[in-house]
Amino acid sequence: MDGKPLRLIAATDTALGIGRDGRLPWHLPNEFDRFLSRVTAVSGPGKRNLLIWGRHSAVRPSQPLPNCHRVCLSRNLSCVPPGADHLCRDFASAVQLAYLPPLSDHIETIWVLGGTHVYQLQEALKHPNCDQIYLTNIMADFNCDTFFPEFDRETFRLLEEFPGIPSEIQEENGIKYKFQVFQKVTSQ
Ligand SMILES: NC(=O)c1ccc[n+]([C@@H]2O[C@H](COP(=O)([O-])OP(=O)(O)OC[C@H]3O[C@@H](n4cnc5c(N)ncnc54)[C@H](OP(=O)(O)O)[C@@H]3O)[C@@H](O)[C@H]2O)c1
Repeated sequence: MDGKPLRLIAATDTALGIGRDGRLPWHLPNEFDRFLSRVTAVSGPGKRNLLIWGRHSAVRPSQPLPNCHRVCLSRNLSCVPPGADHLCRDFASAVQLAYLPPLSDHIETIWVLGGTHVYQLQEALKHPNCDQIYLTNIMADFNCDTFFPEFDRETFRLLEEFPGIPSEIQEENGIKYKFQVFQKVTSQ
């Protein structure tokens, strides 16, 4: 693969729901910590990841995200909102940041963090460098009003095991969930 990997990451319920009333309908701190660890993981000093999210989905952890440049997508905002480092008017411009100075030498992975509008962009799932989808499968129905898009599970195959990701079912606050990684099948 030429270029930098581009990956989607989300937590979904049994109906592929991701949110309700503009929020996450579950409270799973350990799952959220693992999500933060995943998107901030880099191979060494000076390396960074590019995190892309829509205006309604900014991640607001209690402390800054290390090793990251955060991009907010909006067609309406005129200045970079709190919690972001960059503002882009479209997805292609956001991805392009990873390939242009001053970020190009540093960015390793481009993470797409939602919400629905952004996950549904064909430019994301169909991007030639989109090689993996990380989904936490929350094993309950939360009556969500926003959803992760259906995707081709022949193109993206569920891996039985993935290094660093527990394969057993997790439980938090009485809610069961499991971590899943879907890997794009590439033709030889
Ligand atoms: N479970 C999960 O893993 C997860 C992850 C993220 C979010 N969520 C949930 O998802 C819900 C929010 O999703 P959402 O779809 O309503 O909001 P969103 O995708 O976060 O934000 C939508 C806004 O982003 C901007 N935008 C989106 N696509 C764009 C594009 N291609 N170019 C330029 N700007 C673009 C637009 O802002 P302007 O209107 O300013 O132009 C749009 O109104 C919440 O419930 C949240 O909790 C869940």
